[in-house]
Amino acid sequence: MQGVLITIEGIEGSGKSTQLLRLSEHLRHLELPLVVSKEPGGTNLGRELRRLLLERHPSGEAWCADAELLLFYADRAQHLETVIRPALADGRIVLVDRFEDSTRAYQGASGVGESALDRLSDLVLRGLRPHLTVLLDMDPEVSLQRVEVRNLAMGPEFAETRFDDAELAFHRRVRSRFLAIAQNHPNRVALVPARDPADQVEAAIWARVAPLLRSAGFRVD
Ligand code: TYD
Repeated sequence: MQGVLITIEGIEGSGKSTQLLRLSEHLRHLELPLVVSKEPGGTNLGRELRRLLLERHPSGEAWCADAELLLFYADRAQHLETVIRPALADGRIVLVDRFEDSTRAYQGASGVGESALDRLSDLVLRGLRPHLTVLLDMDPEVSLQRVEVRNLAMGPEFAETRFDDAELAFHRRVRSRFLAIAQNHPNRVALVPARDPADQVEAAIWARVAPLLRSAGFRVD
């Protein structure tokens, strides 16, 4: 049996982690062969890259756009080679929290051009595409507020992680890039409104996942 690659995408605060957990629990309950992973950081070396990419360096130096792009693709290359491709060859369902659409949305919104993204994609993915991408869509004004509330609940030392106007504008660009990807790939991308109650979002996701798994020969009933 051929494996199935499902990715889940969305801006910060869109409820991605909650929905990923619910879907993976559902699939585990059905005793299906499952691998759950994420980007960046789906491998041991990738976790080092994740730290380098997402944590502010004490020196204050930040990655230039090209370096950042290459590090995301380095993480992805390692992840594909050592986790995703072997699991698919083994007939498993591979569920990944963020994948290439995140690069196109986030690094694209930071100014990286389409041709650089296309070239790296050809090199690293070699034609592999997710069978299904769940895009949790939400207005960043709402989702970032959710993140701020969560951060504040973690203690006053997290209060500085408030989003300013520039960040809101950036996340608006990220969202519109995600939406453009969904429009250009309607068969692959399931656009799910993420503001609905979590149970409703979960049901909408399952309505897309179940038929895909069934057609790939998995028992989902
Ligand atoms: P993470 O803590 O996983 O955020 P979230 O819980 O919202 O998924 O951090 C991942 C961050 O990395 C997120 O801000 C998006 C960003 N990212 C990119 O900019 N490009 C990429 O290719 C990927 C995979 C993630």
